[in-house]
Amino acid sequence: MGITFDPTSKTLTLTTRSSAYQMQIGPLGHLLHLYYGPRAADCFSYLYPPRDVGFSPNPAALRAGRGWSLDTQPQEYSASLCGDYRLSSLEFSTDEGLRGADLRYQQHTVSPGKYALPGLPSARGAADTESLSVTLRDAATGVEVELRYGVYETDDFLTRAVRIRNGGSVPLRLEKAASLCLDLPFGDWELLHFFGSHTMERQPERVPVARLIQTVSSRRGFSSHQQNPFVILCAPDTTERSGESIGVMPVWSGSHETSVERSQTGAVRLVSGIGSADFSWRLLPGETFQTPEVLLSYSAAGLSALSQSFHRFLRTHVARPGAYDRPRPVLLNSWEASYFDFDRASILRLARDARDLGVELLVLDDGWFGSRDDDRRALGDWFAHPRKLPGGLGPLIREVCALGLRFGLWVEPEMLSEDSELYRAHPDWALTVPGREPTVGRDQLVLDLGRREVRDWLYETFSALLREHPISYIKWDANRNLSDLYSRALPPERQGETAHRYLLGLYALLERLCGEFPDVLFEGCAGGGGRFDAGMLPYFPQIWCSDNTDPISRLAIQRGSSYGYPPVAMACHVSASPNHQTGRSSPLGTRGVVAMTGAFGYELDPAALSEEAREEVRQQIRRYRELEALLRCGDYYRLETAAALPLTAWQFVSPDRRETLLSLVQTEAPPGPIPLHLRLRGLDPEASYRLIWMERFGCPDSAVAFPERWSGAALLHGGLVLPPMPGDYPSARLLFRADPGTPRTAFPTER
Ligand code: GLA
Repeated sequence: MGITFDPTSKTLTLTTRSSAYQMQIGPLGHLLHLYYGPRAADCFSYLYPPRDVGFSPNPAALRAGRGWSLDTQPQEYSASLCGDYRLSSLEFSTDEGLRGADLRYQQHTVSPGKYALPGLPSARGAADTESLSVTLRDAATGVEVELRYGVYETDDFLTRAVRIRNGGSVPLRLEKAASLCLDLPFGDWELLHFFGSHTMERQPERVPVARLIQTVSSRRGFSSHQQNPFVILCAPDTTERSGESIGVMPVWSGSHETSVERSQTGAVRLVSGIGSADFSWRLLPGETFQTPEVLLSYSAAGLSALSQSFHRFLRTHVARPGAYDRPRPVLLNSWEASYFDFDRASILRLARDARDLGVELLVLDDGWFGSRDDDRRALGDWFAHPRKLPGGLGPLIREVCALGLRFGLWVEPEMLSEDSELYRAHPDWALTVPGREPTVGRDQLVLDLGRREVRDWLYETFSALLREHPISYIKWDANRNLSDLYSRALPPERQGETAHRYLLGLYALLERLCGEFPDVLFEGCAGGGGRFDAGMLPYFPQIWCSDNTDPISRLAIQRGSSYGYPPVAMACHVSASPNHQTGRSSPLGTRGVVAMTGAFGYELDPAALSEEAREEVRQQIRRYRELEALLRCGDYYRLETAAALPLTAWQFVSPDRRETLLSLVQTEAPPGPIPLHLRLRGLDPEASYRLIWMERFGCPDSAVAFPERWSGAALLHGGLVLPPMPGDYPSARLLFRADPGTPRTAFPTER
């Protein structure tokens, strides 16, 4: 199947296992978008009969019938000033003053495998991937637009990216270059997006696509805590279990922009890609600009199925090969244990306590370098703090490793403090605007990663650190956004490229470092989840989800993140109670249940725990080891519960559907006589399941009268009733396994 061209109807159709995507070369050579939905082999041009719509202008060649306008026809890649007043995907102006584009088809090619995007993170090809390239051209300016498509048949995914070439004779200034335009001419769509803030990232909000332009964007130079670069368009009746949805995810970590417009005819257009605010790119004749890639998937089977497709796709094709093949180490991070206040002896004590609990990796967080006694200084001075670590990092790391632990280190390479040796030596390496006081965030400035000498210095510094010491994990942090967009290395006409070049520089640096140290586990972080996006996954297979470690806040953050991102990519830690961010107290067991959704670890001082709590932590770690493969490789389901139930519940199901872990947390006082009822997902209806164990935390253990066995159908359709859970933030966890030898249904009826 893959990619087909019908020369009679002039349609190009991209077919995946269960979806079809169709475009057509229109009567004047415009590339029209005809269809995206369930798999079908028909030509969908009949959906767009000529129609005269007032104030929608006609191309000169079709003026006679007045029935055809770019303003009402669905476009594959929209442009401005040629009759389409809806969202444009491309904006530029040439040095001769020409703007807008009338893009007409030139040629297309189909090739096996996946197109490459040098310098940008992107999905690798699968065995059945094919690529399509369609070139469009604007005759007046000579600008060429190459639309690139990757078709992943088995995975049900499309990727899109665009290459823009200045084929004219004068330079031009690119002002907008989206990666994807998607026209959905019919239907009442809703937009599900993920907003937030520092310590409360990726909160889902579902709103009708209104008759105006709605934009999910960041102009912070980072994908941001505030608006994540992932959106879902779904039908109003779509639930976790059923209904249509389309996921759109830029593989990009900088400023982004996804706009949705419902036009006068009710048609919906979505345009997605890099943020156009503060962006411009000078393109000389013959030069090209490559946009980042956007991932696109359609599902008719509800939001859980769409999320699972994204999880599988990101794990398999976007993250580094093998990134999720091995168990993740259970780590203990020093940040909430001691913040900036530590020395070698106290870190060694922490390491011994951690080892005693069963932890495998000790992470030394912020405060280990230069004169870093608080967050106001020393970023850039990547040598051991002389007072805290008098002998340097070497002796400390050796002693930690001698305890049988692995060693991890926090770094923040992209930033520098004004009070640092680096800034005193290279003030021009910071992004600051001449003649203007710089904006500081957490008292720090940002290095101009667009400059090669800055990247080379960072590469030398951090590769030396990794060569000199047996460091097996790096937490790569970045604690402010870009604001003063001025690079001292760029001429005036290229200043609009600063933020984009920063990101390209960051990817180049990460490519180099992660490539040279493939055995080091890099965890991404940006003040928690300020850069939690698909562009970071090839370098950082796990990302610190949020600086908020309160398990009840984390329920919402992790659930919101799970719409687009695999749980194994979320770093989740058990921290102290009362929680340092919210002041809320919660049972240790509940903290463990919540953190055991993703890459698991601790962020507390074991010495502050009672012996009973330490024993509970040992038990948690044993449990984690038992569940690790299921959490890493299983399918994740967000469970729906009755509106009156203050429960957050989720489930992991093994790929063969023989094993499932149900986790739930009660977020308010017991709901009176309303039974705690849940229907499970993803099981084999014909298999017979046994409860292997059930754990409850933060509530008294009461007798449970469960049947000895359930059929998968009973758990899926009838569900499960749990005993009441009195107490503050109690939780429960149940592991079910199918009896060996029970039949497996060949075709799942429920997923
Ligand atoms: C950021 C991170 C935290 C911690 C601190 C250290 O806020 O998100 O986890 O590493 O920096 O300064």
